[in-house]
Order: sequence, then C-alpha cells, then structure tokens
Amino acid sequence: VSSEPSLDVKIADLLNPVGFDGDAPGRLWILDQSLLPGERKILTLDSVEAVHAAIHRLAVRGAPAIGIAGAYGVVVAAQSLPPDLTAAAALPRLEEMARRLAAARPTAVNLAWAIDEVMARVRARASENPGLTALGLAREALVKARELDENNKLRCERIGRFGAELLKSGDVVYTHCNAGPLATAGIGTALGVLAVAARQGKRLSAFAAETRPLLQGARLTSYELRELGIPVRLVTDGMAAHVFANFSVSAVLVGADRIAANGDTANKIGTHSLAVVAQHYGVPLYVAAPLSTFDLSIPDGKGIPIEERVPEEITEFAGRRVAPHGVGVFNPAFDVTPAPLIRGIITEAGIASPPSRETIRALFTKPS
Ligand code: MRU
Repeated sequence: VSSEPSLDVKIADLLNPVGFDGDAPGRLWILDQSLLPGERKILTLDSVEAVHAAIHRLAVRGAPAIGIAGAYGVVVAAQSLPPDLTAAAALPRLEEMARRLAAARPTAVNLAWAIDEVMARVRARASENPGLTALGLAREALVKARELDENNKLRCERIGRFGAELLKSGDVVYTHCNAGPLATAGIGTALGVLAVAARQGKRLSAFAAETRPLLQGARLTSYELRELGIPVRLVTDGMAAHVFANFSVSAVLVGADRIAANGDTANKIGTHSLAVVAQHYGVPLYVAAPLSTFDLSIPDGKGIPIEERVPEEITEFAGRRVAPHGVGVFNPAFDVTPAPLIRGIITEAGIASPPSRETIRALFTKPS
C-alpha cells in the first residue's frame, strides 16, 4: 500500500494514540484516552499486564488502534523474558502471553489479527534461526509491529480517498462512536473520510452522537472534529430520529469492529438502532473499515462475539452512582447491524456496495 499520509503533522501528533520508542528493548506508550479531552497523559506500558489493562479499560481503544497496541504488546512480552533465553524456551512463554493479550477485548477482530501477524513472523524467524534469543524475538516482533502501524496509516488514507468520493460540499454527516485518528494509526476510518473530503475543499458539517455508555463520541469524536476544523453538533444517542426528521442529513458514516463474510457489521452499541432510523428516513449508512476488520471465517453477524462490560458503566455517571442499587443491567459494548441496512462498506481496496458475500470477496482479490 502506498500513498501520502495527509493529516496535518501537529494534529497527527496530538491525536496519535499509540507508539513505540527505540529498538527492542524499547518503550511502548499510549495516550490515555480515558482522560481526554480534559487531560493529556502519556502512559508507558512496561508489562503484558499493563498492556492488557490499558486495552481492557479503554485507555487505548478503537479497533485498529488496539490492534497496533497489541502488536507492540507482543514486543513488550518478549522484552519481559530473560534476554538470552533461547527461542525454543522463549516461544511457548511468548505464545501464552500473546493469547492473554488477544483476549483483552473480544469483539474487535483487529486485536487478535495483529497479534497473530506478529506471532507468525516470530514463529517463522525462530524456526529459521534456532540460535535466536528472546531479545532477538522481541526485535523481530518490533519489525512486524512497526510495519502494521505504518500500513494502517496508509490504509486509512486510502479509505478516506474512496469514501470522500461519496461526499460533496454542503453535506451533513452523522457519525456514532469514534472512528477517527484516536482509534487508528492514521487519519481514522469514518472520520478519515471526512478529513480527506475537507482537505479536498468540500464544506462539510457533522452530527456526532455522544455514544453510550462511555461517551466516546462526546469526548473523542467531537474533539477530533474540532481539531480537524469540521463544524460539529454533539447529540445524545436517543436524538437520531429527531435529527433525521428535522435536518437534511446526507449520510451516516461509522467504523466497525468486526465484519462477517456477508457484511453484517459489529460496531459500537447503538449503531444498529441508528441504521434502522437511517433506513426509515432514506439516509444511506456507510461503514468505513480496513480489510483487517473483516472476519471471513464468520458467515454472518450471529457468530460475532459481543463484549459485555461492567454494570457500573451504566449505573454510574462520572464516577457517581445514578441508578438505584439492586437494578439489573445489560451492558453489551457492541451490536450487529445487518448488511441490508448498510449502503456500502468503504475499505482501502474499494467500496463493497451493496455489501454481500460477492462484493466483499472481490475486495480481497485486488492487489493491495
Ligand atoms: O469500544 P471502543 O471505543 O473501542 O469502540 C470503538 C468503535 O466502535 C469504533 O467505531 C470502531 O472501533 C471503529 S474503528 C476506527
């Protein structure tokens, strides 16, 4: 994949969610998104437990970004072993730590995918060169993790370019959750489309849903859109129908955490209701995601594992209990939007429109 990244360097730095400094042994850092936009804090993650916890508590979040964090997490895991340990002794321990990391969040397939990619390189190098040490494995893991990081930047850029073709000056875009630079290594997926269209000189504005229960839309998406200079109106999730009934919304653009072979798409909870409302009002809904978000081993959305999170994310608000004690809670983090409600899936290989087994298959046969 090649093309020039487009985000203004200052904004790219400000919104870069994850990185790795130096060679192995080196330092994995993340921007703690749980504190944004109020506080900007960089955390160093120096153990597998710390990486797992950061992903689980959404300090780093968004499908591609947790993939990159997991990939660098494998480097951290290898660095935690005695540096002179032989590859044969190191590999089983590394496999176990990689499995633990991959389980930090179950829905976004990018996490397991990226960890698998790094482990595949590590296994291959260990079998080619049995003299390799644990430190050598860490260095091999770092090469692959950096490649995935760089690649995601370029893939976001291409998603942005394909998607921008769908937008024209004056369009009003409705988005949900957060699929911008903070959720990826680059300009974002859904928000990358807006960023590229704005760079092409198209005058756009957006509605961003606050996104229950953790307010990624309110805290992160509206912050990114402000930095990108795209006028945004923040709304609560329950306002979607009212917005469509009263404003001329041109399109809904959302990201994805796992897309089944038939195009059914898991994304942040609330996306499915939004899709139903959008269809009622005749507003096209597009999903923007890299090919690494597809899970072709799953025939349809019924097979996508849905993460359930702690009740306190709903019973409390900003750390204060708001619901009465003793109430039951159901807190799935994602839902599945059936493919017939999706007008197209925008990827770095083109747009699957309408999404179907055939249009999706075709994306994977194109050279990347
Ligand atoms: O729970 P989160 O904040 O990780 O959920 C993120 C989303 O649902 C995003 O829309 C998704 O990961 C798209 S990735 C750019």
